[in-house]
Amino acid sequence: MAKSYRIAILPGDGIGPEVTREAIETLRLIAEIRGFSLELTPYPFGAEHYMKTKETFPASALEEMRGQDAILLGAIGDPRLPVGLLERAIISGIRFGLDLYVNLRPIKLFAADLCPLKGKGPEHIDMMVVRENTEDVYAGIGGFLKKGTPDEVAVQEMIFTRKGVERVIRYAFDLARRRAKGRKLTLVDKANAVGAMDLWTRTFEEVGREYPDITREHAYIDAATMWCVKNPEWFDTVVTSNMFGDILTDLAAMIQGGLGVAASGNLHPGRVSLFEPIHGSAPKHAGKNVASPIGSILAAQMLLSYLGEPEGAELIEESVAELFATGKLRSAGTDSGVGTREQGEWVRQAVRRRASSPTKAC
Ligand code: IPM
Ligand code: MG
Repeated sequence: MAKSYRIAILPGDGIGPEVTREAIETLRLIAEIRGFSLELTPYPFGAEHYMKTKETFPASALEEMRGQDAILLGAIGDPRLPVGLLERAIISGIRFGLDLYVNLRPIKLFAADLCPLKGKGPEHIDMMVVRENTEDVYAGIGGFLKKGTPDEVAVQEMIFTRKGVERVIRYAFDLARRRAKGRKLTLVDKANAVGAMDLWTRTFEEVGREYPDITREHAYIDAATMWCVKNPEWFDTVVTSNMFGDILTDLAAMIQGGLGVAASGNLHPGRVSLFEPIHGSAPKHAGKNVASPIGSILAAQMLLSYLGEPEGAELIEESVAELFATGKLRSAGTDSGVGTREQGEWVRQAVRRRASSPTKAC
């Protein structure tokens, strides 16, 4: 019997729906080529839904998602609503609710033209950032005292647990081992200023002893941002805490061609996991057919790879790489001159051609 995958679709706000549509069409094409089927369940959560119903993200939806194979998310956020309301309820709600403790962010440059750094090409930029995804300042431990008065105090705790730190570090070592490249793992922290990060340093050393084949490196977050621009080739696999990973991966996305091309997976290995482009909802570009769907299409590619469909994932990645490498697509920004729909169609044309070419027939 043909395999079937149940995927929750959460297009969300702004450019989310239009980029997600291209990712879904690409997924459908791969399903047809590879002979599996898809059961897609759309969810309406986001700003419009909230404004109509006052519902952000109900517990029942999270429970339904638990029973799916994967979740594909577009983007969440709307300037008409209080800052972070939907992001915390939906994005953090799913990350924490499903305990998706790895935020995996591949940074790979497909063509030198996409990179704003002088003299850097695809051979210099190919890294995997493993961001911890359930702790740190995102854990929501904090609050206000005397709110709104001149004596106001605001506190937000940087929480790290031994279990939380260890499992993400272990994931990163395993990933470094699976990667063909450098067999090197770099810990990025700020242990010189944030004493609690000594837990990361110690855990990294202890777990690292079980991986003698992986070289251990270290960089403080401030230096890591500098190296990322100066010598990105220095990085192979990187592991870091939640907030530093958030910041580092926006910077890293720029050196691979911008937020339009960057994708991520929020994973709990072996369980339902969430895939999304790194970009946000970009409301000013919404509905204009100018947003790049590549980040979302590459999120779908990561989803397939996670579900155990590496051939389909590879078809997508090679097709995207080809569009940039041949110069057919020159930018992943809103200035590419190629519409959202057209870019999606170009990817699918390349996928069809690759799938039917004799060298790829097996
Ligand atoms: C990301 C985003 C989110 C984060 C926001 C939208 C809450 O920036 O996925 O990187 O900070 O994690
Ligand atoms: Mg971010």
